[in-house]
Amino acid sequence: MAVKKKLKLSKKGMKLLGIVGVLLLLIVVPFTYVQIQKNEIASYGYSKEAVDVIFSQGLKDYASKHKDNKALDKALSSKDFKKENIDIYAQVSYQDQEQFTKHINELFAKGYSVEEIDAILKTGNDEDITSFLEKDYQPNTLRYLKYDYAKLAYLDRYKEYQAKTVAMDQDAVVQVNIGLDRDFYEDAIEIHDFSIDVLANKYRKLSENYVPDDLVEIPSSYCINGNQYMSRVAEEAFIKMVDDASKEGLTMRARSSYRTYQQQESLYNDYVKLYGSKRADEIAARPGFSEHQTGLVIDIAQSETSVFANTKEYKWLTEHAHEYGFILRYPKGKEKITGYSYEAWHFRYVGVEIATYMKENNLTFDEYYVMFIDK
Ligand code: DAL
Ligand code: ZN
Repeated sequence: MAVKKKLKLSKKGMKLLGIVGVLLLLIVVPFTYVQIQKNEIASYGYSKEAVDVIFSQGLKDYASKHKDNKALDKALSSKDFKKENIDIYAQVSYQDQEQFTKHINELFAKGYSVEEIDAILKTGNDEDITSFLEKDYQPNTLRYLKYDYAKLAYLDRYKEYQAKTVAMDQDAVVQVNIGLDRDFYEDAIEIHDFSIDVLANKYRKLSENYVPDDLVEIPSSYCINGNQYMSRVAEEAFIKMVDDASKEGLTMRARSSYRTYQQQESLYNDYVKLYGSKRADEIAARPGFSEHQTGLVIDIAQSETSVFANTKEYKWLTEHAHEYGFILRYPKGKEKITGYSYEAWHFRYVGVEIATYMKENNLTFDEYYVMFIDK
């Protein structure tokens, strides 16, 4: 009797167990299935937020064809994500911008192509794009914005400058970036970062107190009159260059190198007295605006009196200065860009890599700077 009852209970128990089992399966199986799917989507390089959207909106296949797409991930993770714009998110490059997705949606709605949207995002920041979006569709943006150093905020300036100067598109971008659509010295900014690629020109000034911290004296045998100082790295390059040139029977000496703000001030004022301010501004920098104050510059002479542009030393430098990291800073034909008359003697140390690139591409340092350093 007791045995029979036990068996009966077991059957009931098993039935119950069966039901519980089925119920559990009904919960666990789909849950596991979802998890497997999501893990797979995550393995395509998507964040948790993006994975949830991809899964819930049935975009797994799409994601599998666009693996590790940072821009798409950002859009999918955004509250502004719009499924119908997915191809645009997938094609533009990622930018670290708060309103990235919202701006893509709005630019697309305004009629911009994917290529245009990409260039606009690349050349502007959140603020620039927000104000750009206040305008109607702007045609021809790519003519300027295709250059990665273009600035969306300057778009109107590029167009205005080009209308005035008939500059080619690229030149308009470079020259406006330098500041050439504005008067020299207008809104000049003060330089705070100092390295061998520092740019001082008529738009970028050094503070009155700036003195390079690595000045060394150039041995007097390498100078016309002694008492010349340069930043160490530039001085070492200069000495090596002079020594190598001397092996070819050439003589080069330092005439003027590092100049203090006050020395530049008195030199500039002397020129103003001699020639008037218009001419003075063509041949000398105003105090604070001279790259002589950076310690990276050397005015080279062959002798006390020779005209340097006519010497074989000058010819040698035009062929070899870049090998030592020096560039002719104020070349002939580039006066409008540099703001100074041609100076055959004024060499600027920028390092071998930059100097070589500039020589090969016939660029002034003002141009190089806005294209590659201050992008
Ligand atoms: N002569 C150059 C431009 C200077 O004064 O710095
Ligand atoms: Zn000079």
